[in-house]
Amino acid sequence: MIGEFFPERKPNDKQFVFHIKAQNAEAIVGCIWLADRGNNELRVADIHIEEPYRRLGYGTAAMNVAHEFAINKGFSLMSLNVFDENVYAKKMYKQLGYEVVEESNGRAEMRKKLVCKEKQ
Ligand SMILES: CC(C)(COP(=O)(O)OP(=O)(O)OC[C@H]1O[C@@H](n2cnc3c(N)ncnc32)[C@H](O)[C@@H]1OP(=O)(O)O)[C@@H](O)C(=O)NCCC(=O)NCCS
Repeated sequence: MIGEFFPERKPNDKQFVFHIKAQNAEAIVGCIWLADRGNNELRVADIHIEEPYRRLGYGTAAMNVAHEFAINKGFSLMSLNVFDENVYAKKMYKQLGYEVVEESNGRAEMRKKLVCKEKQ
């Protein structure tokens, strides 16, 4: 799945990749990849939920865990980029408090400010 993005088969120290597990089971239902962009910004480089497990709340739950992770690490801003045609993902991000800050070439740049702690 997400391993294909990393030539050395592992993220570097500015990247955080988490598997998302099904509740009460060992099945991996998806993954989320976060990247430290500097200036206290953590980017959702990708999130993917396997098709049979979609619309069950895993995407939202994973994003909320990512927000907690970010706050605990001292990040103050979440960002991501999404294709306009990806209406479901965009809807999820809006429900999670992300706002569109820029639109170009069929893509939207979205951001969410976090209540931050001092960076560790
Ligand atoms: C986008 C994605 C991560 C959402 O994950 P998910 O686990 O299905 O999301 P959730 O169940 O938490 O749904 C969150 C909200 O998204 C919207 N949504 C998601 N799927 C939807 C669908 N099929 N129809 C309508 N709304 C949908 C809804 O608003 C939903 O909230 P609601 O259930 O309270 O109405 C998942 O669809 C996915 O992996 N897509 C392919 C990869 C992708 O596009 N990643 C994003 C790249 S920017």
